[in-house]
Amino acid sequence: MTVPIAIIGTGIAGLCAARALQDAGHAVKLFDKSRGSGGRMSSKRSDAGALDMGAQYFTARDRRFVNEVQRWQSNGWAEQWKPQLYNFKSGQLTPSPDEQIRWVGTPRMSAITRALLDDLPVEFGCRITEVFQGKQHWNLLDADGGNHGPFSHVVIATPAAQATALLAAAPKLASAAAGVKMDPTWAIALAFDQPLDTPMEGCFVQDSPLDWLARNRSKPGRDTTLDTWVLHATSAWSKAHLDLPKEAVIEHLHGAFAELLHSAMPAPSFSLAHRWLYARPSSAHEFGVLADADLGLYVCGDWCLSGRVEGAWLSGQEAARRLIEHLQ
Ligand code: FAD
Ligand code: NAI
Repeated sequence: MTVPIAIIGTGIAGLCAARALQDAGHAVKLFDKSRGSGGRMSSKRSDAGALDMGAQYFTARDRRFVNEVQRWQSNGWAEQWKPQLYNFKSGQLTPSPDEQIRWVGTPRMSAITRALLDDLPVEFGCRITEVFQGKQHWNLLDADGGNHGPFSHVVIATPAAQATALLAAAPKLASAAAGVKMDPTWAIALAFDQPLDTPMEGCFVQDSPLDWLARNRSKPGRDTTLDTWVLHATSAWSKAHLDLPKEAVIEHLHGAFAELLHSAMPAPSFSLAHRWLYARPSSAHEFGVLADADLGLYVCGDWCLSGRVEGAWLSGQEAARRLIEHLQ
């Protein structure tokens, strides 16, 4: 019997590791506590169409990731997004064009992770609470008391805090993961029946509760019936208002958006809010991957590198490479 490798987390890091392991001839089995794949690269289906509430776009600077993104593009999963960019600072909104290439999933961000998942065996709605060693192999316990296994190795591809909780068998890895703090981000989406009177399609924001805003429908392949916007609060504002009810978050950030545009803003015909508890690492790290090859435990995710989609992908890649190397 082939004993598969367990992968906890179906964000871009876990899926990248899963694909690389499967391509090298290893059986894998994925688990995710959510109802679908993508993690922070997922998109929310709503009455206003699919909305990218987490990662907004991604850049590719490492040659390996550049090649992978080109593959995604030729498969029709990703396209360049060329927004009219603005910068908001000290109350001034100014155009801020640049030459940076920015990518998005098409027709929604989650198209990429959905395509990478393809027909890999996965169990959704399954929150893993314990990773423990049997006689020869690894087993997983879930929040409903279910037992999964045996597995030859375990790849943990979750945000740092969630990884720490799963690393009782490897105290050194647990303490490294516990040292990585991650900050929250409140995200809201607003949709307007009449397009807002601005050419802006993306904006980097300073001196405001807002950090970033994007005209969701300006991304390629999106539903354009309504004028949809996604707004992200800064880490500081999100931390200070972590337990604010969603309606109050929407009201505050909608107000900050009106201030930025210096205009009376119409009431949105649709709105929603999402709180990302572990949105971004508070500081940069260069682990690449945390591994105990003798135990057969590997930990990857954006927080092991740049805290961006590219960092997550590279970390997943590195976890798979290290595991495969150890098996040779
Ligand atoms: P995740 O995507 O978080 O995947 C982890 C998965 O593990 C999740 O699906 C989760 O449900 C699952 N999980 C966690 N615990 C358990 C458990 N116990 N059992 C089972 N499953 C579990 N990056 C960019 O490059 N550009 C951007 O513009 C950008 N904007 C962002 C905006 C926001 C608001 C946020 C939140 C992130 C943004 N990022 C951006 C960062 C980017 O989204 C992440 O770096 C990347 O998606 C992380 O991927 P990952 O696989 O490491 O983790
Ligand atoms: P990038 O190169 O477009 O942006 C990096 C940073 O450079 C921006 O945050 C911004 O401060 C600045 N910048 C870039 N172009 C600019 C322009 N034309 N005008 C003014 N400022 C500009 O993309 P990269 O390096 O891939 O970063 C990804 C983005 O994702 C960043 O904006 C980052 O803040 C965001 N992110 C947000 C998270 C969250 O939780 N809200 C989590 C992780 C990333």
